[in-house]
Amino acid sequence: MKAVIPAAGLGTRFLPATKSQPKEMLPLVDKPSIQFVVEECVDSGIDDIIIITGRGKRVIEDHFDHSVELEAVLDKKGKEDLKEMVADIASMVDIHFIRQKEALGLGHAILRAEKHVGDEPFAVLLGDDIVFSKKPCTKQLFELYYKHKASIIAVEKVPEHMISSYGIIDGTEVGPGLHRITHLVEKPKPEDSPSNLGIIGRYLLTPGIFEELKKTKKGRGGEIQLTDGLMRLSKKEEMYGWEFEGVRHDLGNKFEYLKASLEYGLLHEEVGPRLREYFSNFNADEVEAKYR
Ligand code: UTP
Repeated sequence: MKAVIPAAGLGTRFLPATKSQPKEMLPLVDKPSIQFVVEECVDSGIDDIIIITGRGKRVIEDHFDHSVELEAVLDKKGKEDLKEMVADIASMVDIHFIRQKEALGLGHAILRAEKHVGDEPFAVLLGDDIVFSKKPCTKQLFELYYKHKASIIAVEKVPEHMISSYGIIDGTEVGPGLHRITHLVEKPKPEDSPSNLGIIGRYLLTPGIFEELKKTKKGRGGEIQLTDGLMRLSKKEEMYGWEFEGVRHDLGNKFEYLKASLEYGLLHEEVGPRLREYFSNFNADEVEAKYR
């Protein structure tokens, strides 16, 4: 099974941090977000990954490549653990990089992978969305794919004020947490929304999506929207939404990024205990007074 990780967006919500570095390289404590995503693929049994990159995204390629000099220096300094950790990142899985020459939308980015994916179902994982779960989210989708032989989209219940930031599904619940999709809407007003089930950045798609994306015209913001392609596909093939098990963070959003950093930091072996202690005595007014 193959996975496509689109990571060619401009990341304008994170400027200036993303002026010369991709948002997918912003870390939670010490690990770039895209590494969490690649690890989820590996843990789901995927052995062939295509990362869609754009301008200024070379560092993503470098991150998953061997760094001979760094490994040699760590070796010389006797830092075996670090050397192994750095080397492991490069040997985790086969990764291919395809460039999206212009950021024309998520649908357009996924179309770049058509030749490599071929006529097979494949997973899509957004490079700035991470999910912590006992069973990897993509594996949950694979298992449902094998059962239903249809596209499966991970969804979660979103609060009303966030509905207009999501693609929303309409459908019937056919089993606990599994919804047969009848329609999808991109970023509806809460009062017009058919449900509160928002699409997150994990999909298991049949190759039929490529034909539909080719027919999809530029939508919101002059971009080819994946949701528009999914809408067309859902009229031709069965499609399901799955309320995945796990905790998801949209790292493309500043508040969610900070929240995820704190939560991951609190659980982190090295810094967790100190962070927990720091926050147990935390007084926001005292901190503010120090900076005034
Ligand atoms: P976003 O909607 O988060 O857009 O893309 P963005 O450009 O990355 O960020 P902002 O909104 O300007 O801050 C969702 C996903 O689709 C990818 C992004 O990399 C992200 O993983 N994407 C988006 C592409 O690969 N290409 C595109 O043209 C657009």
